[in-house]
Amino acid sequence: MSVDVLLGLQWGDEGKGKIVDVLAPEYDVVARFQGGPNAGHTLEFEGIKHVLHTIPSGIFRADSINVVGNGVVIDPVTLRKEIEALLGMNVPVSKRLFISRKANLILPTHRLLDAASEALKGVDKIGSTLRGIGPTYMDKTGRNGLRVGDIESDAFTSRYEKLKLKHLELLRSMNYGTEALEALEKDFFTAIDYLRQLNLVDSEHLMNKFIQSKRSVLAEGAQGSLLDIDFGSYPFVTSSNTITAGACTGLGVAPRHINKVYGIFKAYCTRVGSGPFPTELNDATGEAIRKSGNEFGATTGRPRRCGWLDLPALRYAIMINGVTDLTMTKPDVLSDFDDIYVCTHYEINGERIDYMPYDIVHTPVTPVYKKLPGWKCDLTGIEREDQFPLPLAGYIAWLEEQLQVPVSIVSVGPNRKQTIIRKK
Ligand code: GDP
Ligand code: IMO
Ligand code: MG
Repeated sequence: MSVDVLLGLQWGDEGKGKIVDVLAPEYDVVARFQGGPNAGHTLEFEGIKHVLHTIPSGIFRADSINVVGNGVVIDPVTLRKEIEALLGMNVPVSKRLFISRKANLILPTHRLLDAASEALKGVDKIGSTLRGIGPTYMDKTGRNGLRVGDIESDAFTSRYEKLKLKHLELLRSMNYGTEALEALEKDFFTAIDYLRQLNLVDSEHLMNKFIQSKRSVLAEGAQGSLLDIDFGSYPFVTSSNTITAGACTGLGVAPRHINKVYGIFKAYCTRVGSGPFPTELNDATGEAIRKSGNEFGATTGRPRRCGWLDLPALRYAIMINGVTDLTMTKPDVLSDFDDIYVCTHYEINGERIDYMPYDIVHTPVTPVYKKLPGWKCDLTGIEREDQFPLPLAGYIAWLEEQLQVPVSIVSVGPNRKQTIIRKK
């Protein structure tokens, strides 16, 4: 059996959590491969609305095994809170959740370093979620990090103190106060004790055993392709590889085992945090999308920037990820619009291009739009594809032609049930 990957094609928040939850019954295993509690994945079903940060979105499905892979960075405090919330809902977490020993730990000082780095950047700040993600991945690649497996060693506390001292020196040089540290450390060590009781595993072996025993795996991405450390709008990106290749390195799965790649996009675009966003609408239309789509961050509550769909960016993400199946979410949000716009090209210095230029941060591009008719009706009750209003069917057909990949799933509302599977 092989591994399918599901990931975001824009700047995150495309609806990954919802679609993973919908697809999870078809899989034996759901595995997160990168990112950390900067993610906020929302699931809605049976009157419940739940946001997951570290735990894979298959956790609510009976018989589903959920793996947090080596590529993820884990904040034990957030993880503990997430688990306790699930236990409060009678989800049998200990039966369903397995955590990689090789996942790196987010320390309290990583969070302070994140805040210090953003404060120093001033107006050039990334707009980080301040969850300590960047500094933790820096320590990982700098070969200084602490990993989940280290908490099983007697030397954990001394290793922790050594790294903390290094961080304190850095914080001093950045002139950043550490008054909050004592309280943060107390919670951290309580959560480390809690983490010790969980199913800590050598996840690369586990994943490969699943593959050999023909169990099906869905790898769940966090963030989005345009936030990828290599291919996103650098430096306004996150610190991990959010793309398909990240599933291989973040789970210890060889590329030949990857089968389908589900790429998710919204029928428009959003971005939270700083950085280039060619189709951003700083006007009443953008505000209308934000309101209708309830576009506020699931992790930080920040208002999301909104704009029209961007095909040069989407094509790029499809190419980098090898997307085989597209999922479009939130067309229902655009139901009030007479016309819908899609960016087909950019113009730079009078020249028309259909790809993302190298320095999108310093090269202002002007989007060129195609106008398409709006559907002007409520989509949220639609259950089958033959109920799509003609303009929506036309919109999807036109996108498939432009992108050369089938749109196999359409989501018409936040609930699990509001999902139309078009093509298997
Ligand atoms: P993720 O990070 O990709 O999992 O996405 P988020 O959970 O951060 O943000 C997506 C938001 O849109 C959540 O509030 C979802 O409940 C909601 N959502 C998902 N799909 C749809 C949809 O098709 N229509 C509407 N209106 N909301 C949706
Ligand atoms: P999900 O998985 C949207 C953004 C932040 C910031 C940049 C760097 O829910 O789609 P970081 O905290 O990683 O250092 O922030 O990336 N960002 C996200 N935006 N959805 C997310 O996750 C995000 N995770 C990080 O806003 O611009
Ligand atoms: Mg999110």
